[in-house]
Formats: sequence, structure tokens, C-alpha cells
Amino acid sequence: MTTVITVCDTCRTEGTEKPTDDTIVRDGAKLAALVEAASIGNPNVSVRRHSCLMGCQGGCNVALQAEGKLTYVLGRFEPNADAASGIVEYATLHDESAMGQVPFKQWPAAIKGHFVTRIPVLDSTDK
Ligand code: FES
Repeated sequence: MTTVITVCDTCRTEGTEKPTDDTIVRDGAKLAALVEAASIGNPNVSVRRHSCLMGCQGGCNVALQAEGKLTYVLGRFEPNADAASGIVEYATLHDESAMGQVPFKQWPAAIKGHFVTRIPVLDSTDK
């Protein structure tokens, strides 16, 4: 099993103006490309894109999910290589953990301060 990184490809960095031209590559698409590049050859993660995770005020946003594990949403990223490698590194640790909980001392510096929500595992008793 892998941890799936969902990158919002329509996000824009917090405080920036909405592009007036559809040919302009969104910050989210830039981050998605960097995360995809950083994950090449990594068997612990897979990456997908999605347009809008409904956290637009705090872009750029990503979500980390794996079956039977905690889900995390992180945001306020700049579309740069440091952020992308930190996201992939954290997702790798998420995949390697039993429940998706990664000890703070293992967190990559690039993801500190970027957590938005943590969502518990959904199980058969949650009806
Ligand atoms: S555009 Fe990225 S969360 Fe809405």
C-alpha cells in the first residue's frame, strides 16, 4: 500500500492575485509538478492532482491519505522544491508508520507549520 498525495492544482499562494489569464500556470500546478518529480522512483507514495480541496484561502494545499491511516491536510506551501521534497518525505514516513502518525522529531522542516487538519480513520463502527 502507498500513501496518496493529492495536490490541488488550482491553488494559488496565499496573498497572490487570481490569474486573469488561463494560460498562466497556477501555483498549485507548479507544486504538483514538483511533488510528482520528487516522488519518481519512490514506492511508498503516489501522487494525484485534484482541482480545489476547498481550502483556497490557505493555498497551496495537499492531502495525504492511506487506507486505515490518519489523513492529513497541509497548506500554505510555496511551489518550490523544498516544499515538494518535504511533502514527499513526510508522505513516505506516513506510509511506513502503522497508523499514519509520524513522530514530531521525524518531521521534515519543510512541513512544520503547514498542518491544517488531521482526520481520524473511518472504521466500521462509525455509522
Ligand atoms: S483552489 Fe486549491 S483549495 Fe481551492
